[in-house]
Amino acid sequence: MSTFAIPRSVEWRETHVTILNQQKLPTVTEYIDLHTIEDVYDAIATLKVRGAPAIGITAAYGLALAASSYDTESVDEFRRRLKQDRDYLAGARPTAVNLFWALDRLVAAVENAVSINEAKTTLIHEAIHIQVEDEDVCRRIGEHALSLFQPGDRVMTICNAGSIATARYGTALAPFYLAKEKGIELSVYALETRPVLQGARLTAWELMQAGVDVTLITDNMAAQTIKAKQINAIIVGADRIARNGDTANKIGTFGLALLAKSFGIPFYVAAPLSTIDLATKTGEDIPIEERHPDEVTHLAGVRIAPEGVHVYNPAFDVTPNELITAIITEKGIVRSNYETALPSLFAKEEHHETV
Ligand code: MRU
Repeated sequence: MSTFAIPRSVEWRETHVTILNQQKLPTVTEYIDLHTIEDVYDAIATLKVRGAPAIGITAAYGLALAASSYDTESVDEFRRRLKQDRDYLAGARPTAVNLFWALDRLVAAVENAVSINEAKTTLIHEAIHIQVEDEDVCRRIGEHALSLFQPGDRVMTICNAGSIATARYGTALAPFYLAKEKGIELSVYALETRPVLQGARLTAWELMQAGVDVTLITDNMAAQTIKAKQINAIIVGADRIARNGDTANKIGTFGLALLAKSFGIPFYVAAPLSTIDLATKTGEDIPIEERHPDEVTHLAGVRIAPEGVHVYNPAFDVTPNELITAIITEKGIVRSNYETALPSLFAKEEHHETV
């Protein structure tokens, strides 16, 4: 039982979904209620809720919520509407595979439902299950990740792969919460993560709540910081891991992996199996979201670049598998040979660890 604050970002409330508005953090802590499927779509598309697992959880609740008010005459008609709404929500963001994974899991859950009432209840249970499961999964990832660090290590991260990006604990940030619980000192160096500053606004905020030692730097300070502060390792989350281990994550991750190689320090990816997409063969096949130019030309709503300037704003990049020292999942740590090792994780029995 933790005695320190680990914030949560999504809650099911029977008639609606409540989320922590991640757009407003850290200056305003605001919870908003999502009542319709359009509210859920908007919350995902505008990053009010973000981070691959949290997107999946919210979308699952959104689909269950929408389906709870269907007044179709047959279960087949119910399933047809469900698939339409599944496709609508799937359009909210393209890169994080957890969105499609969660939605498809709900659709599959009612494949054999015999009544509309049964289908409605099953969808809600499945969405709750996805969230409960993710908390456990993140804790396991944290345990595995923590085994890779020594007390006193200084670890760099980018974006926010923390508690508010998941059900709880996070992926890349989970080891820092578990270290805190066990009284192990680790220091985190968080990149601010332009353009929308998930590192500065979210990672710094949530780690500080929990009393984890965190130091904020701007993205262009990474190389100097690795050298001057003798960073021991880099750990990041993922939005989609291809079958061969190529990993899409927040823009800037690829650069950090190149720096890790150059400095001879390990580069770790921490992610649940729900982020591994065996149907995507390599990173070449991962769709990379490009977002609105305003995210680059403006900072906190204030213009910082000339009007009309050309902008390129990819939200993610792909780190090639050869730059990844290890992929840390809830089922253990995989090093190299990803092409065969990743598929075999799915067949592996759950490894219950005492914590
Ligand atoms: O655009 P975002 O903020 O949704 O991007 C999030 C990331 O890149 C995270 O690292 C990733 O989703 C993992 S969250 C556990």
